[in-house]
Amino acid sequence: MTFLGVGPLGGTYAACYAELGYEVLGYDVDAGRVEKFSAGELPFHENGLEELVRKNLATGRLRFTTDPDEVAEFGDVHFLCVGTPSRPDSHSADLSYMESAVTTLATRLTRRCIIVGKSTVPVGTSSWVQQLIDKHSPKNVEVEVAWSPEFLQEANAVQDVLRPNRVVLAAQSDWARDLLHAAHKGVFELAALEDRHVPLVVTDFATAELVKVAANAFLSTKISFINAMSDICEVTGADVTALARAIGHDARIGNKFLRAGIGFGGGCLPKDLRALSARAEELGVGESLRFLSEIDAINIRRRSKAVRMAADLTGRGSGPAGPELSGVPITVLGATFKPDTDDIRDSPALDIARRLAGAGASVTVYDPLGVDNARAQEPQLRYAASLMEAVDGAELVCVLTAWEEFRHLDPEALTDLVASPRVLDGMNCLDPQLWRNAGWTYRGMGRG
Ligand code: UGA
Repeated sequence: MTFLGVGPLGGTYAACYAELGYEVLGYDVDAGRVEKFSAGELPFHENGLEELVRKNLATGRLRFTTDPDEVAEFGDVHFLCVGTPSRPDSHSADLSYMESAVTTLATRLTRRCIIVGKSTVPVGTSSWVQQLIDKHSPKNVEVEVAWSPEFLQEANAVQDVLRPNRVVLAAQSDWARDLLHAAHKGVFELAALEDRHVPLVVTDFATAELVKVAANAFLSTKISFINAMSDICEVTGADVTALARAIGHDARIGNKFLRAGIGFGGGCLPKDLRALSARAEELGVGESLRFLSEIDAINIRRRSKAVRMAADLTGRGSGPAGPELSGVPITVLGATFKPDTDDIRDSPALDIARRLAGAGASVTVYDPLGVDNARAQEPQLRYAASLMEAVDGAELVCVLTAWEEFRHLDPEALTDLVASPRVLDGMNCLDPQLWRNAGWTYRGMGRG
């Protein structure tokens, strides 16, 4: 099998499927990425992936290339794993990488095979892919599109690929369906070996495409719901963390994705939410999904709210242009959109750091893995090499990514370093009592 696009999605799949015993070729137009993978290094951080890449390069089951002819020659099953970012001029998904991957491959195909969509796409994309294939592949070669969305979470991606909580498949012919099944057999065999069950949903193309965006929209809705509740908690003295725990005990609600804080970010949830709204508009059912724009708005308001809270906490108010923080030294702990990754795409933490600096604060950022990426995107901020260096002289410490290193901080050890012991816990990941007992002014999100 081949994986077209070896970013966080395709790169993880390629290594994991080699681990499951398949012969795998990863392809990318980015020579730097291919070079790194081929040398057993990762172009991005993902827990446990480097070991798998190295191990499977050594077995010979895993290879990487920039040569599309080699890809066409090698694969019976080609997985499309290219990015589908927002278009620069709208919220719709940009399918140009997909178009380029499909046409590049299709023209070179020499034998019967399937091309399987894994990337997150607008509903209806698979038939467009089939049209591209029909237009560009040689007439004597039978090529079928199939679909199987992915659900991996960064930082847990290896586990999510090897041990998924469900597999969704769509194919046209029995032949394609059998091949698609065979291409996922390793996942079911591993589950059987470990006495686990992986639910399989075989469905039509439109449903398979929608499963992914519907799941991400639902997860976003849960987060914005609890963030909206956290505003009520704040003005009534209630504690949103206890509220979330209590409602989460109802299995119909569930206790996951109910952590209130500075909102969701990353390369997927915000973009997919907007792309789904845009697609619904195109399909004439925009009104039915209009609530998603409120989910988005609640989410983005978390960021301005955090800046207002910083101004409150440091005794600064708001002027006509918003919170006023001129010259206030503020330390931001966290730049990545979540812990255990170096990914800063649409990171609430980094966006808040940028907004704080925009309000005049003198911002120093520390992140265990994300500093290089953050510096490239927000070069105007100051970056510290260590946590201790970062908090030195701060009038406010903002914990904006729930890295283990921050969650277990000892407030006593920081007290003498900071100018004023004040902490804004944007992730509700600290123990308020511990910090208050150590003499700190503690503010969480929606915690009274
Ligand atoms: C997300 C989905 O969780 C995956 O299922 C999906 O496959 C993936 O997008 C994708 O579309 O490829 P990911 O972007 O890796 O995965 O990140 P999440 O773990 O979902 O976190 C997203 C954001 O939500 C983070 O900023 C996190 O801090 C925030 N979050 C999460 C909350 O604010 N509260 C919560 O309770 C949970």
